Amino acid sequence: MTSPATITWPEADGPRTARWRSEAAVPPPRRVVVADDRTTADSAYRLACEGTALLWNGDFQNARQLLQAVTRRLERKPRKHGETPIDAFNLHRQAQSQRARTLGMILIPLDAAYAIPLRRAPEVQQACIETYGPSTDEPSVVSLRELLGLIGAHEWRKKGVEIPALGERIHPHYGVFSPVRGEYVDLVAHTPLPSLNKAFDIGTGTGVLAALLAKRGVKKIVATDQDPRALACARENLTRLGYDQQVDVVRADLFPEGRAPLVICNPPWVPARPASPIEYAIYDSESRMLLGFLDGLAEHLSPGGEGWLIMSDFAEHLGLRTREWLLAAIEKAGLTVVGREDIRPRHPKSTDENDALHTARKAEMTSLWRLKAR
Ligand SMILES: C[S@@+](CC[C@H](N)C(=O)[O-])C[C@H]1O[C@@H](n2cnc3c(N)ncnc32)[C@H](O)[C@@H]1O
Repeated sequence: MTSPATITWPEADGPRTARWRSEAAVPPPRRVVVADDRTTADSAYRLACEGTALLWNGDFQNARQLLQAVTRRLERKPRKHGETPIDAFNLHRQAQSQRARTLGMILIPLDAAYAIPLRRAPEVQQACIETYGPSTDEPSVVSLRELLGLIGAHEWRKKGVEIPALGERIHPHYGVFSPVRGEYVDLVAHTPLPSLNKAFDIGTGTGVLAALLAKRGVKKIVATDQDPRALACARENLTRLGYDQQVDVVRADLFPEGRAPLVICNPPWVPARPASPIEYAIYDSESRMLLGFLDGLAEHLSPGGEGWLIMSDFAEHLGLRTREWLLAAIEKAGLTVVGREDIRPRHPKSTDENDALHTARKAEMTSLWRLKAR
């Protein structure tokens, strides 16, 4: 096992070192200065743009304000717009990663028990335990941006997301794909079931689709995922909803053993390399999960069974794949399309004209493809 990364910074009595935490797998910054309430937004912005991190030693709420001030300065920079949708997408990702790097330069110390040793700091112990696991008796340093993300995720996990088709709430964990864009859930709620005997839910995330199939009366469901956080999250949701006898949650790369008359999958829908571990639910490098699902489907379907592929065509509007490519992959896997249900996204970004990818988002359609083995 490799030892955790550390970060070192200068103090009046010599250099100090602590454990470095980054869920996005960002390496520790090499240049670090200590900053406090006297640090101006302009100098923080300049240092952050140069790649020098600021370890905060002042009032916590002032650090939040400083982060907002740096964000405003970043937003004032003119944005490059691509000539084609694919250029716009690449520029958008580049800008996002640059923004994440700069905003990740304001750092917060955590003591060995996950308390923030700063004035007016919030309690973050529970949020840290949920994401990092039990405290390890050593002080650490984390970016303020990540810490605010943890606090937000903790609130989501407590409050949950309402799923009208389920008549219940689903509680996502940090880093697990959250079903906030509910339209694909409605597709699964309304498409006629080929059988009530058994189903597989491939890449279950929070367990939302497995729960929906259980509510619709499917007697036995096997839900898989590869991500330990998703597995823990799905088990917790399914147990809370009383479906733990009906649904087995198992760790698997795509399919569990055996066959089922219904196999569903909502894979990450953008064929591009994830920039960090928490992007694995959105970005599917070289369409690995999509192609793995299609190629393995026929041998996991019972005779006459249906595979349901839930996919947005956003990647097609970005020019990252074509409809012909998808149809050829279905054909090559020995499958045939027996039906398709479409739904338009309702999320606020689809109508936000200032969004860099607005044209593609406006045209986006989410489909449930009903597939059978030929
Ligand atoms: C877009 S999310 C969908 C989650 C959930 N089914 C839903 O509809 O909300 C894709 C899920 O697939 C999982 N995943 C990615 N690759 C996988 C693989 N090879 N085997 C199993 N699950 C995988 C991810 O961890 C993630 O939870």
